[in-house]
Amino acid sequence: MKKHLIVLLLVFSQLSYSQQIIQPFDYSIQKNFKGKNGAVVSAHPLASQAGLSILKKGGNAVDAAIATQLALAVVYPGAGNIGGGGFMVAHLSNGKNVTIDFREMAPGKASRDMYLNAKGESQLTLSQNGHLASGVPGTIAGIFSSLKYARLPFKILIQPAIDLAEKGFVITVPEARGLNHYKNDFLKYSSKTSAFVKNTQWQKGDTLIQTELANTLKRIRDNGAKGFYEGATAKMIVEEMQKGNGIISYNDLKNYKAKERKPVVFKYKDYTIVTMPLPSSGGVLLPMMMKMIANQPMQDYGFHSVKAVHLMTEVDRLAYADRAKFLGDVDFYKVPVKTLTSDAYIAERMKLYDPEKAGVSTKIGPGEIPHESDETTHLSVYDKDGNAVAITTTLNGGYGSRTVVAGAGFLLNNEMDDFSAKPGVPNMYGAVGGEANAIAPHKRMLSSMTPTIVLKNDKPYLVVGTPGGTTITTSVFQSLVNVLEFNLSLDDAVNKPKFHHQWLPDELVVEENFPEDVLEQLSAMGYTIKKVGGIGRTEAIKIDKGMIEAVGDHRGDDSAAGY
Ligand code: DON
Repeated sequence: MKKHLIVLLLVFSQLSYSQQIIQPFDYSIQKNFKGKNGAVVSAHPLASQAGLSILKKGGNAVDAAIATQLALAVVYPGAGNIGGGGFMVAHLSNGKNVTIDFREMAPGKASRDMYLNAKGESQLTLSQNGHLASGVPGTIAGIFSSLKYARLPFKILIQPAIDLAEKGFVITVPEARGLNHYKNDFLKYSSKTSAFVKNTQWQKGDTLIQTELANTLKRIRDNGAKGFYEGATAKMIVEEMQKGNGIISYNDLKNYKAKERKPVVFKYKDYTIVTMPLPSSGGVLLPMMMKMIANQPMQDYGFHSVKAVHLMTEVDRLAYADRAKFLGDVDFYKVPVKTLTSDAYIAERMKLYDPEKAGVSTKIGPGEIPHESDETTHLSVYDKDGNAVAITTTLNGGYGSRTVVAGAGFLLNNEMDDFSAKPGVPNMYGAVGGEANAIAPHKRMLSSMTPTIVLKNDKPYLVVGTPGGTTITTSVFQSLVNVLEFNLSLDDAVNKPKFHHQWLPDELVVEENFPEDVLEQLSAMGYTIKKVGGIGRTEAIKIDKGMIEAVGDHRGDDSAAGY
């Protein structure tokens, strides 16, 4: 009898595990977590809980990251995705660093001038909205190529996402606002009315059920990557393309491959920084920017001092000027990475820095390089064995192309806009580019996404990343400097007002609550200041003296979970 009871209890605990841990109708946002065993921080509390449930089941950080990412595709449709792409950076407890590139690729029928009209003028509405804006999605391929570092069977990792899609979950205020805002776009750019469209206005507390998405996730559970890139799901994507002006073909999907790339690893004082290589521009810009400040008296200057903000802004300007000219997909374009990140080149570039006044972007171009032999969301996870995972993933703009694949229930990306449609013409983040990032079939568009892990004594110390288009790299740069140089608490490092400069347009972008006295002095030095509502949504974990601290950005529904 006793034995039967134990078996019954075990069965019950297995069956109802996800329901016990993940409460789709009753959950709260937790901005800070401190504990000893493991932590997950992501853009949505239900996704963080999904990851936590996997850690508690004995999964490692990779398992938890996969579950969190899949749950985000359900509970955070504006950016969490299976129709987009991204990057994973991991540091495993055996000391190995891993980076997986699951960035979208241009379809086979893409061409350099596909967003230009007969007069040669760029038509960015085509690269930003609807079917033609989508690159071939990479997320599911990325997940399957990271599985070899995971521990639990995939069907357990995907189950929380299936449950949340099938049974629904209660939406937050920002989600309701987003869905209402894009209602007309969903109708205009999708061939069929999707779960995101409701006759009345969405409100906080409404339940979002995504039956078609649940079925797609089940096909992936049952057939692996082929459940997305071949068979019914792939056919639905191609049919959706044909109903609009899209060009993604069945072969584009079938042939998509995520790539494990050589991680970018560099030293900064006593720390080792591990980040994503190209096509993430962060893999070139972050080492450049950190090296540019390494010999400067950052700690004497202090956090948000005029001197520190000025120096870091000029560093941003110099690095982003090079981004525009030199960076693109290394599989297609020879990027002078070694030279750009070399001490000699950094020293040469820093000669252009004037400690007294703002630089002028029209006078500071990209450097001279001799010929050389290339709406987003972030999640950070750390587990009790010392594995750390940072994933930044995106549809590009909020809700991507706003095209929902009929029958399959997920949004496609508008990542094609991250290519340079025409030299010098800014994309939706104001980024300009040229030959290095021109469109070509099967090429990956340049990204700013910079998932990053900082090691101290060869063990994970910080796990960090953020969305924010071109502001991503400068935000990650600030998060690192805030902790490593200014000794800010993790909470302040994430939440204090941020700033950004990207060479062109020549303006210093700051968050609205940036200290006024600092802005006045920067303005007197020659800066044009532009205030914006918010820069990024950083999800950070710090591991120090055995204590794991996780912080979810206060700029959104971001939430930390742990045990
Ligand atoms: O890969 C990139 O750089 C962009 N597609 C990221 C877009 C983004 O961060 C949007 N979220 N705010």
